[in-house]
Amino acid sequence: MKVSASILSCDFSNLKNELSVAENSKLDFVHLDIMDGHFVPNISFGPHVAHCIDKISNVPSEVHLMVSNPLKFIDKFPLSKTIIFHLESSDDPFDVISKINNLKKSVGISIKPGTNIDRLVPFLKFLDLILVMTVEPGFGGQTFMYDQVGKIENLKKIINNENLNLEIEVDGGINYETAKICAEAGASIAVAGTYIFKSDNVRNSINLLKSIN
Ligand code: DX5
Ligand code: ZN
Repeated sequence: MKVSASILSCDFSNLKNELSVAENSKLDFVHLDIMDGHFVPNISFGPHVAHCIDKISNVPSEVHLMVSNPLKFIDKFPLSKTIIFHLESSDDPFDVISKINNLKKSVGISIKPGTNIDRLVPFLKFLDLILVMTVEPGFGGQTFMYDQVGKIENLKKIINNENLNLEIEVDGGINYETAKICAEAGASIAVAGTYIFKSDNVRNSINLLKSIN
């Protein structure tokens, strides 16, 4: 699997060091969780911190926008490779997608555990990835929701049937066991925060996730 490290679980007073250990372990992406205290019941960090991280990082970053008005923020991450917004946060996802495309960035849509994949279907062919939340968004360190695995399988079926070229990424409660289950269901990118940064051996955790086919 490709691995995306969520820095939400880092010790922010030691961010540069923790990030460089992860990057040296052949990380694929740095995952930046942007929370506004409105779309989700928590506040994380904003574009300035994201920009500082992008400047010192040699791994492409993906911005996971958990904000009520994604259009207001999509152009605030000039160095990031990918912008992911929540389907539930926009009245006009086509507009958000096209504006992210105009910025020459990859685009993803994320869905909360309660959101049905039928709502995603009209957008699939315009996306680079789908981020399936396997916890309620807002906090790191939560327990993986096994009832989301069927959603990943169904999504994968639609992607295969329609011959689409997009990846399924999973986020929330990911460790070696849960990542394996998601990979079997059709996911190809795993976001992990706690499992990577709170482990005794960051390199080992990343390598284990990467070893999953
Ligand atoms: C939750 C965030 C996740 C979070 C994952 O809303 O989107 O990216 O940091 O953290 P863990 O891996 O600890 O569940
Ligand atoms: Zn996230």
